[in-house]
Amino acid sequence: MSDIVFSINLIEEKDYIWFNKCRNLVRKYLHNNEYFTVEQTFYFMQQNKKNYWIVRLNDKRIGYIRSILDETKRSIMIGLDIHPEDQGKKYAKQIYMQFISKMYEEHGIYDYTLRVLKSNKKAINLYLTFGFETAEETDLDFMMNYRYKMESNAK
Ligand SMILES: CC(C)(COP(=O)(O)OP(=O)(O)OC[C@H]1O[C@@H](n2cnc3c(N)ncnc32)[C@H](O)[C@@H]1OP(=O)(O)O)[C@@H](O)C(=O)NCCC(=O)NCCS
Repeated sequence: MSDIVFSINLIEEKDYIWFNKCRNLVRKYLHNNEYFTVEQTFYFMQQNKKNYWIVRLNDKRIGYIRSILDETKRSIMIGLDIHPEDQGKKYAKQIYMQFISKMYEEHGIYDYTLRVLKSNKKAINLYLTFGFETAEETDLDFMMNYRYKMESNAK
């Protein structure tokens, strides 16, 4: 499959309602599977908007990324959720690659971490094929790490 260029931009207020719907639709895969109202999302974003990115393809929102820098600013905790309408189209790996190479180029970050519920076989499979390795396991989830290598760069 040829590479697709997604646009990945920090979330803005005009994205909050879409984000709220998308997040509620995929919440069973998340550590916190609570349903949130639009009002709660607006409130939440006052403190957290710097950690959320909207992924678009041809101007259509298809997913979002959470990213939290650690104190050293050399490692980042990430997560990608794709709207159910756009899942299963082989976008996930390309979005991760594009985001990871962007973070490397713009901020010099090469260490990536995520946590995934053990019940989420599809996501685990994706991370393993991408090259993430399990660093920690609990009854509930895996913590997985990935180190960006320049030669694997595929925007
Ligand atoms: C996890 C998620 C990002 C994957 O995106 P996707 O668009 O559904 O998956 P893709 O079509 O890009 O497939 C990527 C890989 O996922 C895996 N995968 C896809 N469908 C699968 C299935 N039904 N069973 C097992 N693995 C599957 C495969 O490894 C696949 O790669 P490959 O077929 O080339 O080997 C997406 O399903 C999603 O947002 N799910 C809901 C929220 C979520 O789980 N977020 C992650 C929380 S840690």
